[in-house]
Amino acid sequence: MKKTAPKRIVVGITGASGARYGVRILQCLRERAIETHLIISRAGRQVIELETDYRVEEVEALASRTYNDSDLAAPVASGSYRTDGMMVVPCTMKTLSGVANSYAGNLIERAADVTLKEQRRLVLVVRETPLHKGHLRLMAMAADMGAQILPPIPAFYHRPATIEDLVDQTIGKILDAFEIDHDLFKPWGEKENP
Ligand SMILES: Cc1cc2nc3c(=O)[nH]c(=O)nc-3n(C[C@H](O)[C@H](O)[C@H](O)COP(=O)(O)O)c2cc1C
Repeated sequence: MKKTAPKRIVVGITGASGARYGVRILQCLRERAIETHLIISRAGRQVIELETDYRVEEVEALASRTYNDSDLAAPVASGSYRTDGMMVVPCTMKTLSGVANSYAGNLIERAADVTLKEQRRLVLVVRETPLHKGHLRLMAMAADMGAQILPPIPAFYHRPATIEDLVDQTIGKILDAFEIDHDLFKPWGEKENP
């Protein structure tokens, strides 16, 4: 039933709050020897510095390859370059809008558009609150085109005790979306001592 594990994933980090989700997913993909192609937007760089103890270069070092967000000639800008999909972690409303409208004004938006047109998996970890109807419309538009909208909304059934527990629950959901095995949280219904 389980499909072959993905080997090559494009990761976008944009300037929404929650830069640590982007860092953590890169660590998890690296631990699983998955090839990552990373694009960090200008605002994403700013938020990494503001919200985390990581320098942007340290985050980039977690990826297999990195690209400038303005590099529209990068391999991931073309559908002929095969990948197993893309995730934007976290995803701003601006980038969501770019994706929903196929604006492709930077490499993150272009790579996401390519991912959709090639019918590959696209996961958008959209983050804003509260949401106005325009945000909701954009999410519906992206979902209609095949994107999975996966906001970092924590669950509490696994009894999180730390911020890391909360972060890892969302990271586990992203890995689930790509059918990548993990034990970041115990699925509901699984016994404590099987
Ligand atoms: C500290 C900080 C937190 C932000 N958080 C959010 C957010 O949660 N969601 C959002 O849509 N924009 C947020 N923004 C605004 C975006 O960074 C801004 O709209 C930017 O132009 C997005 O560009 P990008 O999508 O190319 O990264 C935040 C900005 C800063 C500086």
